[in-house]
Amino acid sequence: MEKTLVLIKPDAMQRGLANTILSRLEKLGLKLIALKMLHLDKQFAQQHYDIHRDKPFFSSLVDYISSTPIVAAAFEGDKAIEQARKAMGATDPAKSEAGTIRGDFGVDIEHNSVHGSDSAESAEREISLFFTEEEIFSS
Ligand code: RTP
Ligand code: MG
Repeated sequence: MEKTLVLIKPDAMQRGLANTILSRLEKLGLKLIALKMLHLDKQFAQQHYDIHRDKPFFSSLVDYISSTPIVAAAFEGDKAIEQARKAMGATDPAKSEAGTIRGDFGVDIEHNSVHGSDSAESAEREISLFFTEEEIFSS
């Protein structure tokens, strides 16, 4: 079964949307296999978004994702990565369809409510960054 990492970003946490977003993903048939709330420090945030290190928005993104506590979750299911990203919608909420998480809740291209792994390799790297093996209840 495929696994994916989901983060509920600060803009969604501040508006009390964590459960709503997790529930939307569960309703797709994805199984919640790990869950925690944590406040990333800058170093952890840089590690998570390392692939964007050279992008102009990197330092703003790191400041943002470490600005408040967030929720990290791992989901498991058939095509979990693709299913979760489809439910999240396009990166820029202005371009996400209504009914997607970002289309319904995203504020702008940075404050877009949710993160989802973009490949099996990213999912494996990201899940092991956020969770120990003992914290993952995979069947
Ligand atoms: P994510 O990694 O968070 O799931 O989002 P994504 O794959 O849809 O988008 P990605 O290109 O990986 O960008 C990561 C996050 O960086 C912020 N961003 N800001 N200011 C900008 O132009 C800009 N572009 C991206 C967003 O928070 C985006 O989700
Ligand atoms: Mg990404």
